Amino acid sequence: MQNYDLQRTWRWNLENSPQPAVVAPQAPVPGNWIWCGLPVNSPLGIPAGPLLNSGWLLHYANLGFDVLVYKTVRTSQRDCYSLPNLVPVNTDQLLTGGTVVPESSTMHGSWAVSFGMPSQAPDNWRTDVEVARNQLPAGKVLVVSVVGTQDEAITDGHASMEQLADDFARCAQWAMDSGAHGVEANFSCPNVSTPDGQLFQQPAAAGLVAERIRDRIGDAPLVLKIGRVATTQEAAELLQHAGPHINGLAMTNSIAAKVADSAGQLLFGGQARGICGDATRTASVTQIAMFRQALSDSPHHLDLVGVGGISTAEHVQLYLAAGATSVALATAAMVDPNVGLIIRDRLKVDWSPHLKEE
Ligand SMILES: Cc1cc2nc3c(=O)[nH]c(=O)nc-3n(C[C@H](O)[C@H](O)[C@H](O)COP(=O)(O)O)c2cc1C
Repeated sequence: MQNYDLQRTWRWNLENSPQPAVVAPQAPVPGNWIWCGLPVNSPLGIPAGPLLNSGWLLHYANLGFDVLVYKTVRTSQRDCYSLPNLVPVNTDQLLTGGTVVPESSTMHGSWAVSFGMPSQAPDNWRTDVEVARNQLPAGKVLVVSVVGTQDEAITDGHASMEQLADDFARCAQWAMDSGAHGVEANFSCPNVSTPDGQLFQQPAAAGLVAERIRDRIGDAPLVLKIGRVATTQEAAELLQHAGPHINGLAMTNSIAAKVADSAGQLLFGGQARGICGDATRTASVTQIAMFRQALSDSPHHLDLVGVGGISTAEHVQLYLAAGATSVALATAAMVDPNVGLIIRDRLKVDWSPHLKEE
C-alpha cells in the first residue's frame, strides 16, 4: 500500500500520487452520520493534509473514509517549506503550546508538521477537485480546505483584513464552483507567522472572514478549522462572532511546540511547529467537550469535527462521547493507510449518541 514518502518533497508526493486502493466496498457504519447536514456512511474522515490531490483523495476514499478534505489550497501558487516537512517527536500528551519537545529517530505516533501551507496553482487544483468529485463514490463528501493569502504590501490593518477576507472568499467560491460539497476554512496554521495562520485567536476578524465566505458560497456547508482554545470565554467569543455564519468547527489543528535535536539544538530555525498525532488527543477531546458545552448555551447548532491523535476505534468513541459529530485522522492514516478499515471493522455498534438525543 503506497504511503506518503517522508524523505521526498511535497511536490514529489503530489506528482506521484497512488492509484485508488482496490478494496471491497465498505458497509456503512451503524448510526446516523452527517457532515454539515449531508448524510455520510460513517463518522470517519481524513482532515486537510494527507489528501494532496484527487489521487490521494480517491485512494483514501476506498480505505474506509467518508469525509475527505482536500489539502489546503490558495488563490495563487505557493511553494512548500524545504525538507524535513515531517519530524517524529517523543512526547507525552501536550496540553498547551509553547513547550520544547525532543526529536525522535523513530515514529511514536506524533510528529512536527512543517509545510507552510503550499498550494498548487489554482488552475491545477480547480480541475483536479472536479476529477475527485466526479469519481467519488456515493455516501462520501468532498470538502476543500481553503486559506486566504495576505497581500503584504497592504500595511493598513483594516484594509489588510478586508483583503484577506476577500481572498478567503474567492478561494472558497472557486472550491465550490469546482464541485466541492463544502468548504473548510483554515483559520489555524501554527507554521506560518502571518495573521492568516492565527485567525481563530481573533474572534472579530474570524467573524468577518467567515461572513465574507458565507456571502460568496450561499448555503453551502462551511466549517472553520481552529487550533488550541483553552478557555470557555475564548470559545464563547469565537462562537459569538463566527457562529452565525458557519455550519461547523473542526479541532484541534495541532499544538505548537519547538523541536530540539539530540544535541539540544532547535530545529526549524528555532520557530515553533504544529505537533500532530497522538500527543494532541487529550487536549483536543477536552476542547471538543468544552465547545459542545458552550454550544448548549448558544443559539448555534454546529457540527464539531474531532481531530487530533486518533488511531483506534476507542479514540473515535472518546471524541463522539465528548460531543463530536464526526472525526478525522491524518497522522495515523499516513503511518498505516489501513487504519480506517481496521477502525471501521470495530465500529459495529451505533456510536452516535448525541445525534439520537436531538
Ligand atoms: C502531513 C500533514 C499535512 C497537514 N496539512 C494541513 C493543511 O494543509 N491544512 C490544515 O488545516 N491542516 C493540516 N494538517 C493538520 C491536520 O489536518 C490535523 O489537524 C492534524 O494532523 C491532527 O490530526 P492527527 O493527529 O490525526 O494527525 C496537516 C497534518 C499533516 C500530518
